[in-house]
Amino acid sequence: MRLTVNIDHVATLREARGGVEPDPVTAAHICELAGAEGIVCHLREDRRHINDRDVRLLRETIKTKLDLEMAATPEIINIAIETLPELATLVPERRQELTTEGGLDVRGQKHYLRDVVKELQKHEIEVSLFVDPIPEQIQAAHEVGANKVEIHTGEYANARSPLIQQALVEKIRAAAKLAAELGMGVNAGHGLNYINLVPIKHIAEIEEVSIGHALISRGVFVGLEQAVKEMLDLVK
Ligand code: PXP
Repeated sequence: MRLTVNIDHVATLREARGGVEPDPVTAAHICELAGAEGIVCHLREDRRHINDRDVRLLRETIKTKLDLEMAATPEIINIAIETLPELATLVPERRQELTTEGGLDVRGQKHYLRDVVKELQKHEIEVSLFVDPIPEQIQAAHEVGANKVEIHTGEYANARSPLIQQALVEKIRAAAKLAAELGMGVNAGHGLNYINLVPIKHIAEIEEVSIGHALISRGVFVGLEQAVKEMLDLVK
């Protein structure tokens, strides 16, 4: 299983002050040096965290691969075609949401998505569709020609009872199996952390996980001590 790191939260922190740091591009380089096998960023229509400059610089400087999460809107599709990420992950986007809330309704917009997938693939961009672990959506992703699906693990990650969590692991496992049988690559992500990753990593069909929040949160704690020591050295 490969790990790709979503660096949106570094940009969120930057935007909290409206300045230039912390720079998500620097974060991407550190993640790569640590062994991350790809960098993920979500260029949202409202540019609330990652912006156009970040995407441009990430494209120019990262050495692994770029997974651009994006809504299937004309403006962002054009940016993807100019940027040429290795992978475009299509997600639904609502302006009011704190984070991506649900999977894409592929079944409900097959005609539109088929055209978008084809357009991106024409430019040699692989396309992944972020879907809930529902067989009809996986089937629809195959029908519109997606190279991969990213299975939405958010409901599983948020489940409070072990029984429900176990049932959701089985749902994810079945969805992953179906996607693989249909010839698609299988990624998974959303809400995965150091604890709930364990059952997911045993699902053989899942080739890649995309993780952001848990990693950046942990990064604050494992890095804070060093940061304070460096400032103390200066202060003393
Ligand atoms: N995959 C997709 C499609 C997402 O939208 C997100 C959140 O930006 C992630 C993975 C990563 O989720 P988290 O930040 O909870 O690890």
